[in-house]
Amino acid sequence: MNRAYRLRRRPDGDLAEGDLELVSEELPELAEGQALVRTELLSLDPTNRIWMSDIKGYMPPVPIGAVMRGLGIGEVVESRREDMPVGAKVSGFLGWQEYCLADDARLEAPLSVLPEPLPAPLPAFLGALGHTGITAYIGIDLAGLQEGETIVISAACGAVGSVAGQIARERGARVVGIAGGPEKCAHAVEALGYDACVDHRADDWREQLDAATPDGVDVDFENVGGEIMDHVLMRLNIGSRIALCGMIADYNAYGSTHHPVGLRNVGQLIMQRATMIGFLVLDHADRFEEAITHLATMLGEGKLVYDETLVEGGIAAAPDAYAQLFTGTNVGKLLLRVAE
Ligand SMILES: NC(=O)c1ccc[n+]([C@@H]2O[C@H](COP(=O)([O-])OP(=O)(O)OC[C@H]3O[C@@H](n4cnc5c(N)ncnc54)[C@H](OP(=O)(O)O)[C@@H]3O)[C@@H](O)[C@H]2O)c1
Repeated sequence: MNRAYRLRRRPDGDLAEGDLELVSEELPELAEGQALVRTELLSLDPTNRIWMSDIKGYMPPVPIGAVMRGLGIGEVVESRREDMPVGAKVSGFLGWQEYCLADDARLEAPLSVLPEPLPAPLPAFLGALGHTGITAYIGIDLAGLQEGETIVISAACGAVGSVAGQIARERGARVVGIAGGPEKCAHAVEALGYDACVDHRADDWREQLDAATPDGVDVDFENVGGEIMDHVLMRLNIGSRIALCGMIADYNAYGSTHHPVGLRNVGQLIMQRATMIGFLVLDHADRFEEAITHLATMLGEGKLVYDETLVEGGIAAAPDAYAQLFTGTNVGKLLLRVAE
């Protein structure tokens, strides 16, 4: 039997009970060219909320009734495919389910077989050495961050932000984070090497950000949007760049009756002749190898600290675990252990 979350209804605001249904379904007999993958780790990502909505997105919405889309890593447990022997570890869109039928004709994208032996622990391939680490690498590069510049990174202790901060430090920039709560801010400075970190939950966070960026902001690595980005816009220097990576503050409004927080200070792009670059990691597949090599080298040299919030509890725990992204309880890459 396979237990899977199927999308029953598009969320209106936060993900609510009844939007997803956990169903038990019989597994099919394998046909030639198919393999069965048991999900071990499920990656929970802010973009899951975008996929649940039917806004004009970068991938088609998850159809109502379909298994919720999600990235993961699993092990091949049965196989009628030569390229996927039993015991191989694979990654890709396994979905929010215990077992994925690896059939290239049916999946949105083929799964990739991970190298043997693995050069780092498995969870790293969904985080620092996976899509979120690569996103950080590409975003910093697109922004053209230079030595001596000041960069601000929101969601500074998250999967993308924490890696972006360390790449920025490696480039010799002044690195200022924004994170939720004093513990996260202390972690950003003490463990991740940020020069300063502003607690966006403090009443005076705007003043804190002004004080932490005395020479203004040359690069904004934007993960959040909303009020936070709005204030960063007011700190931009002439010729500054914004790597627009994500806007999580607005995602729960997507396709819903709730209004997005939105932005008021976009006019600063004109005043400061700033450039805003929206980017998607998926578009940069030709640079994945370069990015992973860079990140793996940093890791090997002890220059990359990576955190994980690994939730136990099996597939049933997926919606509760996912909610951590929006309450900010995760530190580093949020993962769910679906099976050992
Ligand atoms: N463009 C791409 O290709 C690409 C790829 C991957 C991810 N992304 C984007 O990158 C961003 C970070 O993703 P991630 O996977 O690394 O997630 P993450 O940062 O590990 O987790 C999300 C964090 O966002 C913060 N947050 C959530 N709601 C917020 C709000 N209303 N106001 C302020 N902060 C809020 C919380 O941190 P605090 O508690 O510290 O506030 C939370 O821990 C997301 O916007 C995501 O969509 C883009």
